[in-house]
Amino acid sequence: MKNVYVLGNWKSNKTITEAKDWIKTFAQQASKIPKHVTTILCPGFHHLQLFDKGLFPVSIGAQNVSAFASGAYTGEVAAPMLMGLAEYVLIGHSERRKHLLETDEIVANKTMQALTVGIRPVVCVSDLHQVESLHSAVPEFQQKGLLLYEPVSAIGTGQADSPESANAMAMTIANVIGAVPILYGGSVVPENVQSFVKQEYIAGVGVGGASLDADKFMKVILSAGQD
Ligand code: PGA
Repeated sequence: MKNVYVLGNWKSNKTITEAKDWIKTFAQQASKIPKHVTTILCPGFHHLQLFDKGLFPVSIGAQNVSAFASGAYTGEVAAPMLMGLAEYVLIGHSERRKHLLETDEIVANKTMQALTVGIRPVVCVSDLHQVESLHSAVPEFQQKGLLLYEPVSAIGTGQADSPESANAMAMTIANVIGAVPILYGGSVVPENVQSFVKQEYIAGVGVGGASLDADKFMKVILSAGQD
């Protein structure tokens, strides 16, 4: 059976109380997560410590990391500060590229910072140029990294890409980057997740809105893991 990744991204959502409620609801069903589904949840920095190791079979990711090493960069969370809290980190989400003006150079620096401390970077891309730029700036990304391909028009709109076109793009990306797991993201819900994960070049999915509700996120995971 194909191994698949399901990565949830809470974005800028949830108070501590709301996160604790989510964890409680999710934990009650967590034994249902199939072994061949690698589930990753990326909550806010302030939530990271709520996820006790062994609580459920879900890996934790951060949503961002500093492009700088530890030091005098007030407000930044440097990669070593995430050690022991996160196994993965999202880098270069299109929302950050747009609203926080993250360039390909910043994305490359963040990726290098994560790799330096052994945290797996999940670099978000929405076009081929971003992939080529990452590949030439950080060739070692290939060994540890994951790519999350998200067409901007599909994010948060309810207008997911077609599985065939996402697969074609994933194949094109694979030709540039090599054997890196490529995930599709953009309006993934329990009803369409299967159609994406069964595509040859798609190794899993990134889930924004549908990860905010514990029951719905579990439905995405279960559906992704179905034969
Ligand atoms: P969405 O977000 O599932 O709400 O479309 C996807 C993402 O930005 O990762």
